[in-house]
Amino acid sequence: MKFFLDTAEVEEIRKAVELGICDGVTTNPSLIMKSGRDQKEVILEIAKIVSGPISAEAISEDAEGMVKEAEEFASWAPNIVIKVPMTKEGLKAVRTLKQKNIPTNVTLVFSASQALLAAKAGAAYVSPFVGRLDDISKDGMELVEEIMDIFDNYDFETQVIVASVRDPIHVTESAMLGADIATIPAKVIEKMWKHPLTDKGIAQFLADYEKSKK
Ligand code: E4P
Repeated sequence: MKFFLDTAEVEEIRKAVELGICDGVTTNPSLIMKSGRDQKEVILEIAKIVSGPISAEAISEDAEGMVKEAEEFASWAPNIVIKVPMTKEGLKAVRTLKQKNIPTNVTLVFSASQALLAAKAGAAYVSPFVGRLDDISKDGMELVEEIMDIFDNYDFETQVIVASVRDPIHVTESAMLGADIATIPAKVIEKMWKHPLTDKGIAQFLADYEKSKK
């Protein structure tokens, strides 16, 4: 299973790279806005430290505009993936970009039928948003399970990126379902390290070590 960092904060990415747990990065316009920086500047900086796929999101609403943006983003670095929204125009763009060998990540996927359409259009990745489904009292992980079953039935090459991850359980459940990738905010990775029994155990061992010193 691959871990992507779901952030536009370069320092967060750098720390995950140092730990060997950053296989790629996803950004979106909200994350870029939060970073307070220009999209190109941030993506270029990320590309200096991450060799895996880096998703940059197109904001055009028509296929032609998306393809134009995609061609520009793809010129920034060899590992750029173009995020396109799950719309008819988005899927048209996916098809054209596939022919141009520019990989796409279809974002804002909320149903298995959307994921199936994206895979048939030739998306390299689909991103089901589990947290946003949980927010409206729908089980986001059920969607991931459905998509994994469908993709396994037909050997689609499209990889599943579990997105809108809100807690470590989303990550472990994704792993249990065999999802290819989870894109994870840094604050969720921080929670994955932690266990009170680990902290308690370390404190106990250190105390006993001190006591055992002659
Ligand atoms: C990543 O590709 C998505 O844009 C991101 O995970 C969305 O997360 P959110 O629902 O917490 O905004």
